[in-house]
Amino acid sequence: MDGKLTAVTISQRLATRWVGRNLEVYDTIDSTNARAVELARAGAPEGTLVLAEEQTQGRGRLGRRWFAPAGSSLLMSLILRPVLMPWQAQRATMLCSLATIEAIAQVAGIAAQVKWPNDITCGEKKLGGVLTELGLCGERLDYAVVGMGLNVNLDLAALPELMSPATSLSAEVGHAVSRLDLLVAILQGIEVRYEKMARGWSPRAEWRAHLATLGQPVRVGTPEEVIEGVAQDVDEDGALLVRTREGDVRRILAGDVTLRGHRTEVNS
Ligand code: BTN
Repeated sequence: MDGKLTAVTISQRLATRWVGRNLEVYDTIDSTNARAVELARAGAPEGTLVLAEEQTQGRGRLGRRWFAPAGSSLLMSLILRPVLMPWQAQRATMLCSLATIEAIAQVAGIAAQVKWPNDITCGEKKLGGVLTELGLCGERLDYAVVGMGLNVNLDLAALPELMSPATSLSAEVGHAVSRLDLLVAILQGIEVRYEKMARGWSPRAEWRAHLATLGQPVRVGTPEEVIEGVAQDVDEDGALLVRTREGDVRRILAGDVTLRGHRTEVNS
């Protein structure tokens, strides 16, 4: 069975130099993102990680809630301070998704994918999601809090009414998966990619290679409108390029995608 995550067990296994080295672990918290934002505003160092066994007010994208029974998931938020402009901040989210996908392959042997912009999927089902909250200092990025929720040993019957098909790693592989193994692999993968990005590497090619959305007919809701077309590509900043029926290519920096015929908007 998968053990409880504590600051001691995590710190003993961590192989990173700075990601997760400043660590807060809670049995129960309202939201790890809320706590990480509080810490980031108070000047917490880059790499600070907030992790919880349970959240009472877990935040999902687009104002939704994120549900996970206690001890079933990885629920964590990482403070990053990348030297990027705010519109480039999706790059930090992209590399965290990539590290998660790599860790899932290493630890659970599953080839997970990304559904644009930030869902971690297995086939048509959602395994996890990433919610990044930004803090600005004038026009510059002060911090990015990257919140990650991954359904690890989650009994799907324990979730409230499913609004979209969800799954967990244990449901996919048929046995419990070590959250600690996953966690240390994810944090290691983030550190490696983040340091490469600081030296000029772009996560675009790797992200593109793991995007389930490309080539698919999509319907994207933005705050202003709904755009329908075929997902053609993504650019350096993670924007989706959609070719509409009229032949225009529209660039969408954020939105909510429905692969036509499959509503896959929320984790639960
Ligand atoms: C999504 O809607 O797909 C993104 C969900 C992100 C959920 C995680 S769980 C840990 C962190 N803390 C939060 O309150 N939300 C994120």
